[in-house]
Amino acid sequence: MTKLLGISGSLRKASFNTGLLNAAKAVAPDGVEFETATLHGIPLYDGDVEAESGVPAAATALKQKIIAADGVILFTPEYNNSIPGVFKNAIDWLSRPPADIRKVFGGRPFALAGASSGNFGTILSQNAWLSVMRTLGAQLWSGKRLMVPKAATLFDDAGQLTDDDTRERLRGFVEAFAAHVATTKAS
Ligand SMILES: Cc1cc2nc3c(=O)[nH]c(=O)nc-3n(C[C@H](O)[C@H](O)[C@H](O)COP(=O)(O)O)c2cc1C
Repeated sequence: MTKLLGISGSLRKASFNTGLLNAAKAVAPDGVEFETATLHGIPLYDGDVEAESGVPAAATALKQKIIAADGVILFTPEYNNSIPGVFKNAIDWLSRPPADIRKVFGGRPFALAGASSGNFGTILSQNAWLSVMRTLGAQLWSGKRLMVPKAATLFDDAGQLTDDDTRERLRGFVEAFAAHVATTKAS
């Protein structure tokens, strides 16, 4: 069994990215256990809070989910052509303390996907993640790309994916990442 974890970088109830994440779980192939996570409950990073009480429970729980997974997909929105602060903030907490970076990120397969209302479907946000992933020592999978532009035409008002072409692209993406992750597990 290959364990994948998908994390949505949006807190919005009807988020396109949470919708894409849920659709990814639904199309995951046999032999894949697909867990989903959101960033709810993770506070703004504050070094004083960390010094006084350590990493908050919600961030620690997400770290544990990543450690338990064989591969992780970040479903990232794009804000002002870059990573939304909410998502970067969460990853910043996950990188604390620095001694844990290796076990949370080091050599671990990560993939990027995203949906946005603009014409380019999070391409610049995904590019902005590259330097973060490299810094954390993650093994970024680049076998396929999944950008979902003009998302308002592809999801309903509740944030559910309604477009079959996008669903098939998503299926191919999840299958290929899962196959890659299974290979890294076997080696
Ligand atoms: C502050 C802000 C900046 C945004 N910047 C971009 C952008 O650079 N490119 C883009 O395609 N969409 C941009 N959008 C629109 C988002 O794609 C849209 O809000 C989308 O619904 C966010 O993802 P979500 O549905 O998962 O929350 C921006 C939205 C906000 C709130």
